[in-house]
Amino acid sequence: MSIEKIAVLGSGLMGHGIAQVAAMAGQTVSLIDKSEDALAFARQKMGDSLKRLAEKGRIKDTPEAVLGRIRTTSNLADGVRDVQFVVEAVFEDINLKRNLLAEVEGLAPKGTILGTNTSGLSIRAISGKVRAKEKVIGMHWMNPPQLMKLVEIIKSDKTDAPTLQTTLDLCTRYGKETVIAQRDVWFFLAARARVGFSIENCAMQLAKVADHQTLDAVTRYRIGLPMGEFELLDFTGAVDIRPKGLASVEDILKDYPDFEPWPEFRNAYSYLAKEVWADMSAKGLSGVKSGQGFYPYPGRKYLKPDIPKELADKIDPVQLMAPALNAAAWCVTNGVGSVEDVNKSMRLAFGWPKGIFDFVPDYGIKNIVDTLNAKAKAAPKWLDGFYRVDPLLAKWKA
Ligand SMILES: NC(=O)c1ccc[n+]([C@@H]2O[C@H](COP(=O)([O-])OP(=O)(O)OC[C@H]3O[C@@H](n4cnc5c(N)ncnc54)[C@H](O)[C@@H]3O)[C@@H](O)[C@H]2O)c1
Repeated sequence: MSIEKIAVLGSGLMGHGIAQVAAMAGQTVSLIDKSEDALAFARQKMGDSLKRLAEKGRIKDTPEAVLGRIRTTSNLADGVRDVQFVVEAVFEDINLKRNLLAEVEGLAPKGTILGTNTSGLSIRAISGKVRAKEKVIGMHWMNPPQLMKLVEIIKSDKTDAPTLQTTLDLCTRYGKETVIAQRDVWFFLAARARVGFSIENCAMQLAKVADHQTLDAVTRYRIGLPMGEFELLDFTGAVDIRPKGLASVEDILKDYPDFEPWPEFRNAYSYLAKEVWADMSAKGLSGVKSGQGFYPYPGRKYLKPDIPKELADKIDPVQLMAPALNAAAWCVTNGVGSVEDVNKSMRLAFGWPKGIFDFVPDYGIKNIVDTLNAKAKAAPKWLDGFYRVDPLLAKWKA
């Protein structure tokens, strides 16, 4: 089915970018938000972005022609009346998303595909109040949608094959690459494969093995990632977002306990969210947006933190990478995605110079497994089980 008319719900950071990509691909777009101010700001940001792209010769049409295909409205019924595909990008709140999609189903033409740009909430739970559950699909864009190459697709247990195919075709039309998360689990495939790296950075900082600057130096200068984890937490405002997301996840787990099949992972993440990130958030240490996080940002402006290179020699990178690899291996062992798709996600979603499993020969599988075993012995209670060697790594070592 060729999709010519789509609606994007929520015109914030992600929604305005998704709407712009669709219009650049020639589609007619309704960009819907409950806030008129958000819509006005979105139109301005899309205009600025299109101007920049035009100056670089990266769009075929004029910015005016592209913008002319986007109608902004705060009237939901009017916005979805004649569309074939909807992508919701409203706040990351399970009840909001669940109720909104059910409302949209009642207003949009029969058969309209309902996509959700959730970062990590269950697609089954989001489709909970929709009647045609086979038409609901996760369509997880990366930030900023105009520039990032990857869209992650997530099926629920009910999503049907035509819905999946239409969504994949749409991504191709937008010039995007895709990975498909094969299971509806917390954080899906791309972010799930990466989150072990985040947990380990925070665990090492908390245990005072190294401070945030040292760990970021290792990540930047020795592992070669674009940003250290603490830089990234500051950049994205994650200490605000993550505790809120956890509240929705706890709600979801009451109905779908298998949304998180690794209880020790849940313990580790929940401990950090409740004991560390929520506290930082309450103290206003959210990062760039508050002016201070792990690093200072005078005037709330992003400035790449200055991190001395020599700090990188203090810690062996395998200390960070062994737990990260173990958590990424969990995705493969538990059928969320293949080694190839995990690798592709790390490169295209997070700008890693190579796939995470491509680092295995750099450190050596024996060294990785030994590091995990040593960490398991010394782990505090909240990290119990987090370092248990995944069967995939054990197999590679054998
Ligand atoms: N920010 C990211 O890097 C990122 C990346 C991938 C996915 N996501 C996901 O995308 C979604 C949106 O995130 P964001 O960062 O763009 O949020 P945002 O806060 O920038 O924008 C959300 C918008 O939704 C609007 N909204 C809220 N309730 C609404 C309703 N009932 N009807 C219409 N509009 C409504 C708000 O007015 C706001 O403009 C979330 O689910 C988030 O987890 C975010």
